[in-house]
Parts: sequence; structure tokens; C-alpha cells
Amino acid sequence: MTAVRTPCSRHAAGDCMMHAGVEYMEDEAEDMEDEADDMEKLIIRAAEIIRRGGLVAFPTETVYGLGADALNARAVARIFEVKRRPRFDPLIVHISDFSMVYELCDHVDERAEKLMRAFWPGPLTIVLPKSEIVPDIVTASLPTVAVRMPAHPIALRLIEKARTPIAAPSANPFGYLSPTSADDVREMLGDRIDMIIDGGRCPIGVESTVIYIAGDKKIVLRPGGLPVEEIERVIGAVEIESHEKKQKPRSPGQLPKHYAPRTPLVIASADEIRTGTVKREMRHKRCGLLAFKKPTPECYHNYDAIEVLSDKGDLVEAAANLFACLRRLDRRNLDIIYAEPVPEVGLGRAVMDRLRKAAWKASSQ
Ligand code: TXA
Ligand code: MG
Repeated sequence: MTAVRTPCSRHAAGDCMMHAGVEYMEDEAEDMEDEADDMEKLIIRAAEIIRRGGLVAFPTETVYGLGADALNARAVARIFEVKRRPRFDPLIVHISDFSMVYELCDHVDERAEKLMRAFWPGPLTIVLPKSEIVPDIVTASLPTVAVRMPAHPIALRLIEKARTPIAAPSANPFGYLSPTSADDVREMLGDRIDMIIDGGRCPIGVESTVIYIAGDKKIVLRPGGLPVEEIERVIGAVEIESHEKKQKPRSPGQLPKHYAPRTPLVIASADEIRTGTVKREMRHKRCGLLAFKKPTPECYHNYDAIEVLSDKGDLVEAAANLFACLRRLDRRNLDIIYAEPVPEVGLGRAVMDRLRKAAWKASSQ
């Protein structure tokens, strides 16, 4: 956006800061209007692509999604091809209006309605019994469908304009780090999809919290952008599914390894990291550090590359930076990345879930 400071017409050029300021603000407002018009045109084009069965990557408040018309099985099949995602892993269906949930689902539990009222639009996905309009490919033939109303204005507008619910996984090849900027999507999938809407960086930075509600069960299948503590404030205590040992997970996509950089990653204790113990063991290797807080000066001698999630140790900031930091470390040709654990409260739960999944391969060898 360019804003040019024009001289005030009522006073000599440069004499009147107040009027110059007003005109500056007017120029800026005009620029913003132009930008909004351009975005609206882009969204209308994107909605057309979705209606014709194409694929559009779009920003949400959590991560970028790769969207297709959820009611068009052929369009949805392309998502699986482009991402190389196994067909057993069901997709989240995104809606822009509360009425859509009643079309997609056969029965909407009272507790689910409470959660919808409290947290939608927002980073919460609710798994409910599906109605027959949802194609089997979306739900991997499960009797349930995962539904979410995203809080990002571009995502909401896109769904509205497409006049159909949009099935969208994160816009990354299966198993890799989720994208939090349009450039991330372009780099990974740019040549294989029809359009990318650039809405800047995703403010939350980790995927939505997924909850399953049925009968007497309230189970968090994936910790994410909405802290479990906030959910419990509305519907009481919930169970948190552990994915490591389960033979047949309730959430088929929650494999032990996921959200992973190509570089092996190990979670080490804060002590080992700060005293350099881990690095000494790996003397001849190129080691990276994913630090939670501002690292000690010695760390800068001990590691070949360092990324810091949040200088002041703020969990919201750490979640927002997680995937971008891992992506940068992954580009540094390191032999190993050491990650410092974060406290498992609030968004820290989602960060640790992603780190454990990223670490799974390295720790199981
Ligand atoms: O924040 C998000 O949720 C992002 C943005 C784009 O909305 N989407 C996202 O989608 O993370 P995806 O496909 O990467 O992850 C969806 C997760 C998977 O773990 C999948 O197994 C689970 O939700 N899921 C989807 N439908 C389900 C169902 N019917 N039952 C259980 N789990 C389901
Ligand atoms: Mg994903």
C-alpha cells in the first residue's frame, strides 16, 4: 500500500501538519478501499473456481487450507491427489453460517451447540453424525463429519460467495509442516492448484482443536488453536485422546508421525539444551535449536542455527511462530534439530503435540 503525503491546500506547503495529516489519512483510507475491492474481486474469482470443481488455497486464522466444494466428490478427490493424502484420512468441512451445520449433520448434540455458540467462528472443529448430503470421500466413509466455522474474514467470505461448504485440509503435502503464509503454500503446492489467496500470515499458527461429541463422550482428538481449558469452561471436563498406542484411532489422520520437517527432530530437556550436553554428544554434526524462550549466550556457540519461538516465553506467540521456525530450520541443511519443550497448558498443549509428532521418527529409530 502506498500513501503519499500531499501538501495542505489551505496553508502553504509543508506548513500545516494537521491538514497534511488529514489528507494523508484520506489517501490511506482510499488505498485501503481499493485493496478491499481487489480482495473482493479475488474472492469472487476463487469462489467461481470452487463452484466449477477447482482447488483454492485460502487463509484461515489457524493455517492455510486447500479448499474444494465439499459436496462435489470429484473435486474433493483432487485434494487427496494433490496432497498425496491417504484416502483413510477424513477432511474438515468449513462453513460460514450456522444453518449449514444442520444440513451437514443428522443430529447436533446440545453440548456441540453450546460450543458452537461460544467459539464459532473460531479454531474449533466439531465431529458430529453426518447427513447423507456429505460424500463418503470427505469423511473417509466414517458415519461422522468434522465441521468448523473459521474466523478469518477471507475464509468466511469465500464460503459465502461459493454458496457451498468447503472441504479443506491444511495446504501442505501429507505429513509435512502446515503452511502459515501464502508463500509456504506456493513453495509446496503452487504448481498443482488453481489459485492461492494471499491473506498474510495466519494469526494463530496451529490447526484447530478437534473435538468428538457423542453419547456420554467428549473427546479432544487433536489439541489445537482453542485451548482445552476454554472448552472445559463451557461443557465441563473432557477426555484427551492419546494417539501413540491406539490400534484404531478415532481420528484417522492423527498418526504418531505428522507435522514433521525433513530434518530429524529430538525433544531435549531445557537443561540439556542450555548446558550444551546434547550438542557435545553430536560433536561432528550440524545441530539446530528450536528454543522456546530467549536462549543463553552459550547456545549461540553450541548450535549451527537457532530459532526462538517467543523471546518472552509467551505460548500464544510460540504457537504462531512454530511452523515458520521449523520451516526455516529445515532449510539449513542440519543433521538434527533439538527442540526445547514448552509448558503443556493453553496453546502449549498444541505446540507439544506437534513437536512430539515431528519427533516421532527420530525417537523411534
Ligand atoms: O485449522 C484447521 O483445522 C485446518 C484449517 C485449514 O481449517 N485444517 C486442518 O485439516 O488442519 P487437516 O485435514 O490437516 O486435519 C483434519 C484432522 C485430521 O486429523 C482428521 O483425521 C480429523 O481432522 N478428522 C476429520 N474428519 C474427522 C472425523 N469424521 N472423525 C474424526 N476425525 C476427523
Ligand atoms: Mg494437516
